[in-house]
Amino acid sequence: MSIKYEKDSQNIATLTFDKPGSPVNLVDALLVETLFKHLDSLESDSSLTGIIITSNKKDFLAGADIDRLYAIKDTDEAVFMVDAFKKALRRLETLGKPVAAAMNGSALGGGYELALACHRRICMDNPKIEIGFPEVTLGILPAGGGTQRFPRLIGVQKGLPYLMEGKRIRPEEALKNGLVDELASDRDDLIKKAVQWIKDNPEAKQPWDSDNFRWPGGDPKSPNMVQMWAIAPSFANKKTYGNYPAVKNILSSVYEGGQVDFETGCRIESKYFAELAAGKTSKNMINTFWYQLNGIKKGKSRPDGFEKYSVKKVGILGAGMMGSGIAYVSALAGIDVVLKDVDMKTAEKGRAHSAELLNKRVSRGKMTEEKKGEILSRIKATGKAQDLDGCDLVIEAVFEDRNLKAEVTAEAEKYMLPDGVFASNTSTLPITGLAEKSGRPQQFIGLHFFSPVHRMPLVEIIVGKKTGKETLAKAFDYVLQIKKTPIVVNDSRGFYTSRVFRTYTMEGLGLLTEGQDPATIEAASLKAGMPIGPLAVSDEVSLSLMLHISEQTKKDLEEEGVKMPDVPGMKLVERMVNEYERAGKKAGKGFYDYPEKGEKRLWPGLWDLYPARGKQYSQEEMIDRILFVQVLETIRCYEEKVLTTTADANIGSIFGWGFPPFKGGTLQFVNDYGVKEFLNRSKELADEYGERFNPPELLVKMADKNEKFE
Ligand code: NAI
Repeated sequence: MSIKYEKDSQNIATLTFDKPGSPVNLVDALLVETLFKHLDSLESDSSLTGIIITSNKKDFLAGADIDRLYAIKDTDEAVFMVDAFKKALRRLETLGKPVAAAMNGSALGGGYELALACHRRICMDNPKIEIGFPEVTLGILPAGGGTQRFPRLIGVQKGLPYLMEGKRIRPEEALKNGLVDELASDRDDLIKKAVQWIKDNPEAKQPWDSDNFRWPGGDPKSPNMVQMWAIAPSFANKKTYGNYPAVKNILSSVYEGGQVDFETGCRIESKYFAELAAGKTSKNMINTFWYQLNGIKKGKSRPDGFEKYSVKKVGILGAGMMGSGIAYVSALAGIDVVLKDVDMKTAEKGRAHSAELLNKRVSRGKMTEEKKGEILSRIKATGKAQDLDGCDLVIEAVFEDRNLKAEVTAEAEKYMLPDGVFASNTSTLPITGLAEKSGRPQQFIGLHFFSPVHRMPLVEIIVGKKTGKETLAKAFDYVLQIKKTPIVVNDSRGFYTSRVFRTYTMEGLGLLTEGQDPATIEAASLKAGMPIGPLAVSDEVSLSLMLHISEQTKKDLEEEGVKMPDVPGMKLVERMVNEYERAGKKAGKGFYDYPEKGEKRLWPGLWDLYPARGKQYSQEEMIDRILFVQVLETIRCYEEKVLTTTADANIGSIFGWGFPPFKGGTLQFVNDYGVKEFLNRSKELADEYGERFNPPELLVKMADKNEKFE
């Protein structure tokens, strides 16, 4: 039985959700069917005084059955699926008895929609509990009446951000903002408060079922809303560039549903949901953010046979931008940190970065002073290598210099635990080469963090030729320990993320050298779904750093007897740095000007440097070039076994450099486009623009065999 029924001496029925054999309660077919059966008997029970809904799991109700959602093929199936749940909720709220949700755990999506169909929401005051509508993050909308009940409960303007952004909040904030009515200290208190409320409110009704119902803040057709509706779509579009149909459909569902009565509104919601559930974007997002991300977190790319490892003391070499960030996230996860730089003063500067971030948390009320002190006390700043004594993991983040890295490796290995792992945060130097300077190359690995470390969710783990499996397992566990997402790649120049990201910037800069308008290139990239245009991001990275890396790579390749191919974009970077002395944002000038006051703007000199010439490409053509070049390079990484799983490719591309999430990542892009169609378009682009668009052999074979990237 997925719902337990009990009735007490006061004739209050309690329905306890408890899906057998599952850690969570889901809104699945069984739950809805069982709910219907209970509703039949509740409706015919004349002695009933009220109903309490609660759960026996950690969560109140976790939300939709994603397997079922992912399997939806057409809009009829989608409407059928949500209408059953909707009907059950409607019967519950119009049964004529007071219904209280006793929220003992998180109520997300369908779970919170169930709570909304109750007349009272009482929630346990536990900061681990989350409340909200995450549907939009999977490309769908809340279709259990959420887009109808929620704005009618808290108002359109207050409600829309929760629905459109998918943010989750804690009980205290939920109470403050009206998402729940009351907090309870523990389970007994929760039930006691629910019972009391039922006794006090025998006639409870939903506001929208009362004759004198008024929308808080005005209904969607009231004059004071006109202006908001006029700008809301373009406001949303400014952020999404029309790439996220869920955002548009949520707006439409709230707007149109608000013009009609509640039940008609619910039907409108189902229609907008169905369009999304049967569409491609939600499939892309569910595939990557649900199945593949969960697979990664469960350790798909972690070698089996090694016990879960927990790092106790991490040494970090270099307290600069990266090292100080790594120290912060490690201390936050409860790990003792030794932060070493050339001297105590420099190391202390790195430690101050943590203090600054922690202070922000305290001032926002997200952390107590005691907790801050506790975390900060875990970071020991030092100038002495001896302090690395006893470290079971050391991560170096010193300057990008091979000799220096060799020196600090040898020094750390003298003091750290003999079976400890040594990791390099290098962004460009191949790990296998760096490991040659280690006394124990099987314990040497790459841990490539992204900047700013405290915000970026990804860590790219790089396996060198000699890296041992146990080392990989430990590194993988550390990344999860600091609450980041690990992808695992084999050693290669630029690894996976930097290698593919470079093709994006180079394609964008290449377009400029071909005489395309710089503003149009930036706009096309944003429309493609990239978070920032190629010119802007090059400025952020710094043109001088790009040039330095390129020169270093050229030298390395020449030593291997390989000639580095000329790339037009790189020539442009060289001119920008050497001829025009515009090294990027840090230097105050690059592709953009950075006035002290006001927003950055494209440097007018660009139009003189590369005046418009030749055929001006359509936006679609530019978008194809910008996205295909990244996807093709990813396929090459996969073919060369730099990447070994589709999940690592997809998640790495989105979390690492912001490849469009609505496409589900670089390899999912091919599935979405159609493998054969992608192959054909690549050939066209290769004919037109050059061999970087030539389809790799692997793709040709896959198209032949009708295979997809699984
Ligand atoms: P940074 O210049 O901010 O910091 C480097 C730090 O290393 C300085 O504080 C310096 O005093 C210290 N250092 C120099 N010699 C040392 C020694 N013998 N012992 C201990 N510390 C020493 O550099 P950043 O940006 O933090 O980069 C560090 C590493 O991380 C580089 O390998 C870089 O390629 C890599 N990386 C950088 C990223 C970025 O966005 N900046 C992203 C990913 C990796």
